[in-house]
Order: sequence, then C-alpha cells, then structure tokens
Amino acid sequence: MSEVISLINLKGGVGKTVSSINIAYSFAEFNKKVLIVDADSQGNIATSLGMIADELDNTLCDLIDEAIADGVTEQRVVECIRQVGKVDIIPANSVLAEMDYKVMNAYRREYLLKDIISTIEHLYDYIIIDCPPSLSLIVTNALTASNYVLIPVETQYLSFESLRVMLDTISMIQKKLNRELQIKGIFLTKYQSRTKLSQGIREKVYEIYGKDIKVFEEYIPYSIKAAEQTLYGKSLIELAPDNPVSVAYMNITKELLADEE
Ligand SMILES: Nc1ncnc2c1ncn2[C@@H]1O[C@H](COP(=O)(O)OP(=O)(O)O)[C@@H](O)[C@H]1O
Ligand SMILES: [Mg+2]
Repeated sequence: MSEVISLINLKGGVGKTVSSINIAYSFAEFNKKVLIVDADSQGNIATSLGMIADELDNTLCDLIDEAIADGVTEQRVVECIRQVGKVDIIPANSVLAEMDYKVMNAYRREYLLKDIISTIEHLYDYIIIDCPPSLSLIVTNALTASNYVLIPVETQYLSFESLRVMLDTISMIQKKLNRELQIKGIFLTKYQSRTKLSQGIREKVYEIYGKDIKVFEEYIPYSIKAAEQTLYGKSLIELAPDNPVSVAYMNITKELLADEE
C-alpha cells in the first residue's frame, strides 16, 4: 500500500513545491517508488523539473475532466505519468485554475482525485501531492485522497491566521470526508540560524503547536541554491546532494521512513 502525503500551507511561497520535489527525490534515494501529483495550477512541479507546464498535454487537468465525465482507468492515468529521473510526476498547468468551477457541480466532487490516485496507488510506495495555497475544492480533493499532511512553515514570516484556518480545514476533512487523515508534522523552511526572526518563529511554533502536532527537529535552511533549482530543472538532491538544504530534506525523509517502521 502506498502512503499519500499532501504538502499544504494556505500561504504561498513557503516552500511547498521545493519540499515536495526534494522529499520525493530523497525517498527515491532510499529506493522508494515515488509519484508527485501537482495539484497547483501554477504548474511549478513541471517548471521546476525543466518542462514548460502550459505546453504539456496529459496533465492532471485532463484526468479531472475525465473523472468528472466517465471516470478514469489505470491505463489513462498511466498515460499522464512522466518519468523524470528517479521520480514520476503527474503535472498540472494553468488549465487547473478553471477546474474548481467544473468540480463544483460534479458527482462525488470531493473524491475525484482519490478516484484517480486509487487506480495507480499500487505502483508506488509514496505519492506526494503538491497543493496550491488556497482553500479550494482541489485542496479538499487532495486532503480526501491523502493519508497524511506535511506542513512547511516559513521562518521569514509566520501567518498564525492561515495556519489556524488550515488546521480547522484539516479537522473538518477528518470529520466529514477522511477519518484516516493524519498530520505528519510541521517543518520549518528558509531558516536563517543567525537571525533572531528565524529563532523567534521556531520558538513560537513549538510553543503554540508543539503540544498537539509534531514539529520536526530538522529544519530547512535558507539557501540561494534552493531557488537555483528551477534554473537547472533538477531537484537539489541531484544537483547538490551535499548542500545543507539537500541534507535537511534527506533527514526529514529519513524521519518519515522511520515513522513507517
Ligand atoms: N530553503 C530555501 N531557501 C531559499 N529559498 C527557498 C527555499 N525554499 C524555497 N525557496 C524559494 O522560495 C520561493 C517559494 O518556494 P516554493 O517551493 O515555490 O513555495 P510554495 O510552493 O509554497 O509557493 C521559490 O522562489 C523558491 O525557490
Ligand atoms: Mg508551489
């Protein structure tokens, strides 16, 4: 059985996409079979891995369209999977932005992504869903399809309000749509160890959430290399395995693997 993990935060720019990619490639380093599903209309998974998102056909947008119409088969979903080095992806692009409207009136509208993923789940150890920074039906679909959520929190600027709204949403999904959903934990991103701001936010996160939610000891340091990843169209794990950002993602992934045992 595969584990489906959504990377979620209602704020943009916190490192969801960079984390999705580098955790996925870290899992692959441990010989796990991994799929990343891009659920964000910005199509950043494809862009970060060297593709032009808006030129792609066979994306998640097509699968959602088909799931609304007649349902999808394993063969159709497999056609939408692209292998990028050691990891597979189902890309998305700007067409996904129009989907919320279509999904709104669909039968089983919260379960479309779950139905899509369930056709290919047996092919993978881990399926990572990179979520958009919004409270949309696509996010509801991602959380309904997931076993776990992982929450990246930026140490440059902390939005307690958006974290609270997100935790309320997760709790609503747990009650109404997916009893199995669990929070794997919060990890801090863009951490600058020399700044008071990063240290202060870290302490606040432990203080406010540490009792109820696991806050990973390991944090992702700030590094310009993380931003360069898009330039080369490769994960940092492959580009610069010794970079502190890569090492931190590998350590978080090790913890995720240890949770399994
Ligand atoms: N550890 C990091 N250090 C420095 N910049 C980072 C780091 N992680 C992400 N970034 C940069 O921050 C921006 C937002 O990251 P991204 O993963 O796209 O966020 P999200 O998916 O949450 O919107 C990108 O420009 C990315 O390159
Ligand atoms: Mg993103």
